[in-house]
Amino acid sequence: MADKLVIGNWKMNGRLATSQVLLEALSVSCAGGVQVAVAPPLAYLAAVSSVLAGGSMMLAAQDVSAFAVDGAYTGEVSAAMLADLGCRYVLIGHSERRQYFAEDNDLLLRKLQAVIAAGMVPVYCVGETLQQREAGIGIYQRVIGEQLAVLGALAGKEYVVAYEPIWAIGTGRVASIGQIDEVHQYIRDTLLQCHGASATIRVLYGGSVKADNADAIFSLKSVGGALVGGASLDANGFGQICQAAKKTV
Ligand code: PGA
Repeated sequence: MADKLVIGNWKMNGRLATSQVLLEALSVSCAGGVQVAVAPPLAYLAAVSSVLAGGSMMLAAQDVSAFAVDGAYTGEVSAAMLADLGCRYVLIGHSERRQYFAEDNDLLLRKLQAVIAAGMVPVYCVGETLQQREAGIGIYQRVIGEQLAVLGALAGKEYVVAYEPIWAIGTGRVASIGQIDEVHQYIRDTLLQCHGASATIRVLYGGSVKADNADAIFSLKSVGGALVGGASLDANGFGQICQAAKKTV
């Protein structure tokens, strides 16, 4: 089994001082043997980058501008700027971006391409709503398939997919092991069909991952790691998730 990747998505949380305290604790609890990244709010990216410098924990951004080239785009942050700050990963198409900022496939493809062009790895998030899940396998697989369609343009490029059922995000309602495995297999099959059987596909699971369910989730071969929201704000809990990931390496 390949190394698991664990990314902590802090979302719009924390302050400069709390970020420093959290990082200090994480440097102990997440040390060694697993790939770990944190995605702080944009405002703290530079500060977090300097704390992480020289260590093994990697930096991720929560979003990026779709404009590929710097210029007169007030309020935007380019992929080149994120790379300049030392980001390795950039989340693209998180359901909160799709929902609150109406991000669609066309825009997300521009973001994916900008991130790759700047030498970073996009983490492309997909997932269905509760209503789509309850409508049955044909419906939610079609929704996820449509979200995955943009990746067709990225053959041969390095990217990661995160499966995040929207009904499991921040709700405490984690998908069952069977549900996770089924969708992860579906994502793998879809992308292998699209890029060819030799493509490397890594799919993270996200949605209420916690210390007490991480072992079971990471035991799945189809799970390449986790995208962790709420639990990544707690150094102890996040540390335990990283340890669980380490056990499966
Ligand atoms: P959660 O969030 O772990 O709080 O459910 C996951 C995510 O949104 O990436």
